[in-house]
Amino acid sequence: QNKGIIFDLDGVIVDTAKYHFLAWKNLAESLDIHFNKKQNEQLKGVSRVESLKKILSWGKKSISEERFESLLHQKNKEYLGFVDQMDHSEILPGVLKRLKILKKEAYPIALGSASKNAKTILERVDLLSYFDAIVDGNEVSKAKPNPEVFIKAANLLGVEYQNCVVFEDSIAGIDAANNANMVSVGIGDQEVLQKANFIFKDFSQITDAHFNEILNTMKT
Ligand code: G6P
Ligand code: MG
Repeated sequence: QNKGIIFDLDGVIVDTAKYHFLAWKNLAESLDIHFNKKQNEQLKGVSRVESLKKILSWGKKSISEERFESLLHQKNKEYLGFVDQMDHSEILPGVLKRLKILKKEAYPIALGSASKNAKTILERVDLLSYFDAIVDGNEVSKAKPNPEVFIKAANLLGVEYQNCVVFEDSIAGIDAANNANMVSVGIGDQEVLQKANFIFKDFSQITDAHFNEILNTMKT
């Protein structure tokens, strides 16, 4: 196959976006900063460091470097507490079925995530073996909407950028895919993910016909 399939992780493959939200919300509240679901959309796809910077800017707070580091640690600790309780059931609807089909049809498959916990989570839900390449928060220096993460994934797969499709639940991630000249598929809310080339509520809504349609928008 000369077409590459790239998945974001949080909110696309597994239902961890809700855990990131909870952990950030609790942390923000401990600083007397309050943010809503709409603001939370701006945290999706964004690295841990950048997320904390955003939250602090919403609360117009400035803190020492040590405090910043300790808050990052605190957030991740709470997040990993949720992850620890995870099992198979948190794989989002339709994802496993699609991964199986893609594997059978020998499509190159990559993960493109900002999370430093990506491998831990894939292992946890037993999906690691489906991925030919993994690019996560440990390997990228430029956060989405910079296309670096997807460019690296495509390079590892050995597939041309315009022959890759990216599945994303975040605004930053859709922008990153578009910036990389890849086909962007939004998973989630139509209102939020307007700039995606295609949008579905979740993978269970993507039929084989839809999937072929997505792949057929590529030139080769
Ligand atoms: C993903 C999530 C973000 C999260 C980021 C870093 O992009 O959508 O909400 O902040 O990864 O995750 P990490 O697990 O490294 O804190
Ligand atoms: Mg995501």
